Amino acid sequence: MSTAELQPSKLGTKEHWDSVYEEEFDNFEEIGDEGEIWFGVESVEKMVEWAIEHVPPSPDTSILEIGSGNGTLLFALVDAGYASEQLSGIDYSAGSIKLAQAIAKTRGAENITFNLCDFLKEDPPLLPQNSQDSRHAAWDLIMDKGTFDAIALMKPDEDGNAPVANYPRHIAELLKPGCLYLITCASGFLSMSQVMIIN
Ligand SMILES: C[S@@+](CC[C@H](N)C(=O)[O-])C[C@H]1O[C@@H](n2cnc3c(N)ncnc32)[C@H](O)[C@@H]1O
Repeated sequence: MSTAELQPSKLGTKEHWDSVYEEEFDNFEEIGDEGEIWFGVESVEKMVEWAIEHVPPSPDTSILEIGSGNGTLLFALVDAGYASEQLSGIDYSAGSIKLAQAIAKTRGAENITFNLCDFLKEDPPLLPQNSQDSRHAAWDLIMDKGTFDAIALMKPDEDGNAPVANYPRHIAELLKPGCLYLITCASGFLSMSQVMIIN
């Protein structure tokens, strides 16, 4: 099955994610539950292990997560030794940013940058310390866990085009020489939680 054959679902709507993160934020405030771990703990461990092998932690290793949700993956990277001030998450749901920032405070990871950003419409903001020299990769590693899936389930635009068709172009624009990209996804042509390396 290709992504073009996937039926649109509520998982492809911003309203869905806004309501998910509103509820997760309330739960976090009430009982400290950090929320859903997409694809389970194993997928987080697998992605972190891959990162350590290919882009080892160093004071200036910069990592961007597209659709960072509650920040689980970024927090796992901090636990693995990555510098929190070099990590950034973007998400188009304001509730996710609020939740991830609240969790970050309780984990001593408040130096992670979380920005509200629709990946299909805007350029993810660079970290201030990495924005000076455009000749070099802005990011050493770009990660996606479950966001491609959500985008693949969006309904077609008014011309009948699936928004997911634009995903590779946006990723390609971010991939400067030396930048790696790692995705875990369950959609369509990729089998469950397959990790693929493009660059
Ligand atoms: C399945 S969740 C995964 C969240 C997180 N990566 C994790 O593993 O816990 C998909 C995430 O993608 C975000 N998202 C969907 N479309 C987006 C877009 N166009 N730009 C930015 N974030 C998006 C959603 O708000 C949601 O947080």
